[in-house]
Amino acid sequence: MVQVSNWLANRTSLFDSSGIREVFNLAKELKDPINFSIGQVDYPLPEPVKDSLIQSIERGQTNYTVTQGIAPLRERLKKQVQEQYNDPHRDLLVTSGTSGGLVLSMMALIDPGDEVIIFDPWFVMYESLPQLCGGVPVKINIYPDFRLDIQKVRDAITPRTKMIITNCPANPTGISFNREEIQQLSELAAENDICLISDEIYSKFSYDKEHVSPVEFNPETTVVDGFSKSHAMTGLRLGFAHGPAPIIAEMIKLQQLTFVCAPNPVQWAGVTAIDTPIDHHVDAFRKKRDYLADELSKYYDFVKPDGSFYFFPKLPNGVSGREFLTRAIEHNMLLIPGNVFSDQDTHFRIAYAVSESKLQQGVDVLKKIASS
Ligand SMILES: Cc1ncc(COP(=O)(O)O)c(C=O)c1O
Repeated sequence: MVQVSNWLANRTSLFDSSGIREVFNLAKELKDPINFSIGQVDYPLPEPVKDSLIQSIERGQTNYTVTQGIAPLRERLKKQVQEQYNDPHRDLLVTSGTSGGLVLSMMALIDPGDEVIIFDPWFVMYESLPQLCGGVPVKINIYPDFRLDIQKVRDAITPRTKMIITNCPANPTGISFNREEIQQLSELAAENDICLISDEIYSKFSYDKEHVSPVEFNPETTVVDGFSKSHAMTGLRLGFAHGPAPIIAEMIKLQQLTFVCAPNPVQWAGVTAIDTPIDHHVDAFRKKRDYLADELSKYYDFVKPDGSFYFFPKLPNGVSGREFLTRAIEHNMLLIPGNVFSDQDTHFRIAYAVSESKLQQGVDVLKKIASS
């Protein structure tokens, strides 16, 4: 009798995604839940972007594009990057979502045994992608304030350290390292010949201060970014990556042999998205963040987020993430236990990109279950 499971590659058993999958399955069962579990915005695809997508399909732009991305989009994005950093050595490619950029950068840079420094708590892919390439994630605990302690990073560096991944504002904490911290990290990477990957997918959702990119201090940084969150395009799969030309050239080569290209009509919609401001949405999210911070401060321990649309409060004393989720579900509410993003089970993630009325209902439930 053939045992199909014996055919599976060893890498499939390196990690599992059951935690988050379980919450998504539960979401399907609940009726009209207060859904704080989804990492995507609650506003629709902006009309001009939608029109541009439809027109592109009507023009028949559904075939392959050049791997690196259609010229109008790539040139616009490159121009933006040039205006920002004025560095002729940077190049850019269009990817299938920010995830596409992360996968390609990892494939281009990580050899078996290479160590990749990530911060705990992390965005789920940062733990798994290095392992898919045979690398080893090395985790730096940044609880309880989620600030950078540069000495901890220095101490974690070994001769095998190849990469550091940073993500500001962060998923799941919403925290951004400040300018000084970004500078310290950038300089440390440069001094130790370590490549820095900066995931800037939430940079537009920076509520108090301008987003600071490590590129400012370390021009060898590779940035992954995308339209999923900013322009409500999670299902359309459009991202981009920019960095030193030799790295981008390899990412283009790898994309040719894997994803081939980002979806053609979506790339045309991306050109329109660049000209479609989202400031009013960002303002609305800032208000939601402030509302949550004010309402929850007497009930939970948390660090007020700087950006993205996540809150990462501490669980009530003695309660596990699983138990807290069970309590939440009893009140028709979904959230994500913090151990999905971490080696420790002490926090939970709220994604507050929901309507005002759902947010209010959610706050009422969170107050109720804080000490029940
Ligand atoms: C930090 C971070 N990076 C990358 C991604 C992936 O985004 P995309 O939909 O563009 O692949 C996400 C999605 O949740 C994210 O939170």
